[in-house]
Amino acid sequence: MADNWKCCIPAAIAGGAGLAALGFMYMRYRRNKAASYVGKSWWLSDPLNVYVRNHNVDDQVLGELRVMSTKLEQGIMTTSVESCKLLTFYVRALNAKKCLDVGVFTGCSAFAMALGLPDEGKVIACDISEEFTSLGKPFWERGGVSGKIDLRLQPATQTLQELIDNGETGTFDLMFIDADKDNYGVYYELGMELLRKGGLVIVDNALWSGQVADPANTSKATVSIRELNKKMRDDPRVEYLLLNIADGTGIAQKL
Ligand SMILES: C[S@@+](CC[C@H](N)C(=O)[O-])C[C@H]1O[C@@H](n2cnc3c(N)ncnc32)[C@H](O)[C@@H]1O
Repeated sequence: MADNWKCCIPAAIAGGAGLAALGFMYMRYRRNKAASYVGKSWWLSDPLNVYVRNHNVDDQVLGELRVMSTKLEQGIMTTSVESCKLLTFYVRALNAKKCLDVGVFTGCSAFAMALGLPDEGKVIACDISEEFTSLGKPFWERGGVSGKIDLRLQPATQTLQELIDNGETGTFDLMFIDADKDNYGVYYELGMELLRKGGLVIVDNALWSGQVADPANTSKATVSIRELNKKMRDDPRVEYLLLNIADGTGIAQKL
């Protein structure tokens, strides 16, 4: 009797390992299920996504920055190639001179905006991480865009409020929101003040891997993004467009 429990140990270990494997498989299933309709395009292997990616060609150095960034432990945060192309396009189409990048990481989005700006143009790049942003700086330098990226290392709300206090209300052409999800609504409101008429707010992760459409998902980030999507849709101050590209892209033009 005293030794009976010992013979149960291997069975308990095997059972535990089995449960862990099942848990892992379930997590992968959930991730792939979400990824099958929306997600960070660079980790989707669907042939159509690969085709789209192959037809959105990066600037050489921006492409190298993206490769370096996606290999980092936090690489999932890297802005997709389609979103970056969209940013460069809009900056050029708007003839923009002043942009806001809220959430820099290693700077793919800031780099993409800078590419579309004229020499005297500026991206005010807001982040709190010296570590992530300094990994990107050598690429900004090599790509010839560092002179257009004005990095402000402090909470983005503080930087945006300072710009308002400095009298820069109504002077920005485009704002890209991609920082902490809980503050998305605050960034949007500050952006509305800072943008000129006709300026654009572009919101990344607007579909949050599909979680916004799952009413059972009430995580803080999901609720925050869901609320902002609704607010933008119903906002009489803007013309609104929600695109199912990358991880979802919400676009509002200030009327
Ligand atoms: C998804 S990443 C941004 C990705 C980036 N747009 C790109 O092109 O790869 C989010 C970034 O927001 C930053 N962040 C988090 N909280 C912040 C805050 N309160 N103010 C400014 N940046 C913040 C993080 O340090 C991180 O670098």
